[in-house]
Amino acid sequence: MKITLTLAKADVGSIGGHIKPGSRLMGAVSDFIAREGKHLIKDSYISHTGDDIAVLLSHVRGVSAPEIHKLVWDAFWSAAEDARKQGLYGAGQDLLKSAFSGNIRGLGPGICEMQFEERPNESFLMFAADKTDPGAYNLPVYLALVDPMYNSGLILSPIMFKGFRFTIMDVSHTDGDRVIELDSPEQIYDIAALLRDNQRFVIESVHSRTTGEPCVAVSTTRLHNIAGKYTGKDDPVMMVRVQGPFPATGEVLQPFKIGHFVAGFMRGSHVGPLMPVKSNSTISWFDGPPIVSCTAFCVHDGKLSEPADVFDHPFWDYVRDKVSRKAIDIREQGFSGCAMLGYDELEYGGIVEKMADLDKKFRVRPVKGKPRGRRAK
Ligand code: F6R
Ligand code: MG
Ligand code: MG
Repeated sequence: MKITLTLAKADVGSIGGHIKPGSRLMGAVSDFIAREGKHLIKDSYISHTGDDIAVLLSHVRGVSAPEIHKLVWDAFWSAAEDARKQGLYGAGQDLLKSAFSGNIRGLGPGICEMQFEERPNESFLMFAADKTDPGAYNLPVYLALVDPMYNSGLILSPIMFKGFRFTIMDVSHTDGDRVIELDSPEQIYDIAALLRDNQRFVIESVHSRTTGEPCVAVSTTRLHNIAGKYTGKDDPVMMVRVQGPFPATGEVLQPFKIGHFVAGFMRGSHVGPLMPVKSNSTISWFDGPPIVSCTAFCVHDGKLSEPADVFDHPFWDYVRDKVSRKAIDIREQGFSGCAMLGYDELEYGGIVEKMADLDKKFRVRPVKGKPRGRRAK
């Protein structure tokens, strides 16, 4: 059976700052989807990662189905109303437009989707990250799909020998989707040359070159490109199909032990290590660190299995300790150098005004013996 998985996320309000949505808000989204989605979807799963609610739907209506996008939009919209009634912080934060226009893309919430012929034992992973942006997935996806140091299947499993096709988006281009397709293993240097720039080039999807089937789908929304100003970090979601022609679950997870440094953290303006956390974790220290959760499922006839929380294992406690140390290390240098993002990525407009103001106060000191205003050679 051909099914579609739709995974969307939004911050529609949270408790005590940008910490977590709370059970009442989660309940509002679940109830809405159960009630209004009854005849539209096969199954659903609602969770949160930090202050973002993720809605996973399985259905048979294909990618970009307006009725599915509307269901998600309306669910977030009604939850935002509830958040306002509760007096939660940042109610409706990610809902940047007031009217639905056929597709949720460009309205604020992040979304990624995949349509495929269901395998008899269809297994996939759902990732959700908070206090970071879509480029956070660039390195782990690259390593899991092209590097035999991380993916032993690339040398052991003939069904993966042909490699993968990467679709990479230039997210700085706001007038339409600017994308490029590149193949591993032949073009891995080109892929790496783009993916090193997490703020500009973002993996949108990856397909198996053996079967042509979709393997990875990432939400590529950049909120500040929609709103033209800071409205919160993009907090991306991702789905990865696993096993068979795709990497094994453990191969996809392996790069997350690095705790690589990503953009985000406090005020979306810093650099911090990405910490793998249990599902439904909160945010804490310095509004961070940036976190990612991963939930594994099987899906059969569109029905989701019970979720398996893959970062809820003693191994990841050790990784979390290591990532905490990395977070403390970089925070020790406060605002200095690489601890904060570059000027273009700073998510608060205040600094732009401050710099403009300071700029006016600069003066060029006259050099003795040289006419004023001319630069000494
Ligand atoms: C980052 C984030 C938080 C807020 C910070 C200030 O993505 O959500 O770090 O930026 O708590 O919040 P505001 O600007 O809402 O006062
Ligand atoms: Mg928030
Ligand atoms: Mg968030």
